[in-house]
Amino acid sequence: MGEKQTRIIAIANEKGGVGKTVTVINLAAALSRLGKTVLVVDMDPQANATRGLGFNPDEAGVLSIYDLIIDSRKVNVSDVLQSTSWAGLDLIPAHVDLSGAEVELVDRVGRENSLKSALVSLNGHYDFILVDTPPSLSLLTVNVLAYARETIIPCQLHPYAYRALSELFDTVDAVKTEINPDLTITGILATFVDLRTRVSNLILEKLRENERTRNLLFKTMIRTNTTIADSAAVGKPVVFYRSSAFGAIDYSDLAREVAGM
Ligand SMILES: Nc1ncnc2c1ncn2[C@@H]1O[C@H](COP(=O)(O)OP(=O)(O)O)[C@@H](O)[C@H]1O
Ligand SMILES: [Mg+2]
Repeated sequence: MGEKQTRIIAIANEKGGVGKTVTVINLAAALSRLGKTVLVVDMDPQANATRGLGFNPDEAGVLSIYDLIIDSRKVNVSDVLQSTSWAGLDLIPAHVDLSGAEVELVDRVGRENSLKSALVSLNGHYDFILVDTPPSLSLLTVNVLAYARETIIPCQLHPYAYRALSELFDTVDAVKTEINPDLTITGILATFVDLRTRVSNLILEKLRENERTRNLLFKTMIRTNTTIADSAAVGKPVVFYRSSAFGAIDYSDLAREVAGM
């Protein structure tokens, strides 16, 4: 058992395409560059965080978070932990099988706490554990929110994404009341920011006026930056792919803000 005070953070938003996975990959990488030890847990059956960190989720013989959750009597955490090419940055990969976990968990006692039980032995071993979530309110997402202590909510500066926030607040409140009283919202992260556009400014203004969001908005905002998408496509976090890109600078700023450095 390690002695670190591990911060377990879910990156959540029921909407897809808002920058969750990119935030998981790049916040994790930027934190590791600050000297923090970081584990990424990929809980999305699409396995994009797994690919974004340079792993092929379909490689034969590689066990995923699915195997650990479903087969926890036979599979140990050490069987699913992968070191990445970057120091201090580890991964527990996802696999498309994870989409079936939902059905397999449903009859289990304590089904909402399957992830928490599976990962409990890692408490104290990392400075940060960042968990990616699927773009739906599923039992998988509930498992992530039951396990995490904190939530970071990426919000694309677009009217649909803004409107979807209230659903996410309801979900977090429900999980907090029913399952995990320790869960807090650490911050809302504005993504796809382009201050030259009217829509970015309009939604930012709404986030700054809204009672529920105004004290939660991170100072750091993530600008729209095509290098972020390019780096994900080649399986590298942008901070390692091109450290001078806006995306790398923004996620490094976010890492310092999250770590309080
Ligand atoms: N700041 C950004 N600038 C440009 N493209 C981005 C940015 N953030 C994410 N993307 C791209 O947008 C798409 C959706 O992002 P992703 O992180 O996968 O969203 P989610 O996980 O919420 O579905 C991906 O193709 C990703 O590479
Ligand atoms: Mg995603």
